Amino acid sequence: MTDASLPLLRIRGLAKTYWLEQKQIEVLRGVDLDVMAGERISIIGRSGSGKSTFLHVIGTLDVPTQGEVHYLGEPVFQKSPAELAAFRNRTIGFVFQFHHLLPEFSALENVAMPALIQRIDRGAAEGRAKEMLDLVGLGHRIGHRPGELSGGEQQRVAIARALVLGPRLLLADEPTGNLDEASAAGIHDLIDEMNRRTGLTVILVTHSSHLAERMPRRLRMDEGRLVPV
Ligand SMILES: Nc1ncnc2c1ncn2[C@@H]1O[C@H](COP(=O)(O)OP(=O)(O)OP(=O)(O)O)[C@@H](O)[C@H]1O
Ligand SMILES: [Mg+2]
Repeated sequence: MTDASLPLLRIRGLAKTYWLEQKQIEVLRGVDLDVMAGERISIIGRSGSGKSTFLHVIGTLDVPTQGEVHYLGEPVFQKSPAELAAFRNRTIGFVFQFHHLLPEFSALENVAMPALIQRIDRGAAEGRAKEMLDLVGLGHRIGHRPGELSGGEQQRVAIARALVLGPRLLLADEPTGNLDEASAAGIHDLIDEMNRRTGLTVILVTHSSHLAERMPRRLRMDEGRLVPV
């Protein structure tokens, strides 16, 4: 049973320190944040302030030095590596500034990949991938490889791939940093639409104050902590 008043994410005292050549870099210094299901949040902050580090840690791609992330009340970093990988694949979609699509594979195959990795059979995986590509407006480009798509189209494929397993949480790190304004707006419209349709929770890192302002809740990474804008 899940309690509707329980935050999707409860982040407490999250700290991340890197050591490089015996020098300590305190990137996150105790981040506290509650994220309710269906929220859309933007995070801005100067280069090097720790925004990507924060997304990596809450996305469980990296471990914190201190602190905990609770997902619907469950402490995620107490899971075993295998449980954590399964949790991540099921629950979280990632979109990065560079799309990281596999160049040798078609759009359809790229989007189907997370489902194939989950051992969903090929027919069902490709059916789902096709639906996602239709949804992002690329139903007519499914056979194209990444090199045969425009930058905006590649990024839409990356979003389709991030969402193909129906995650509840989308973590997007400057997903439109390389795109012109119109293509960027199209991607952000798409993210908003997924939020409306499925209640997808969105945390977006951006250098664009304009894109940040599209989000109902706006935060800034400042001295290793998140503060409201
Ligand atoms: N693996 C690592 N080892 C050591 N230091 C690191 C490592 N990863 C990141 N850092 C340092 O941590 C700080 C925060 O990096 P991060 O990538 O989170 O910044 P950011 O806010 O995403 O910046 P940008 O806006 O430029 O993407 C930087 O000073 C960076 O040099
Ligand atoms: Mg970054």
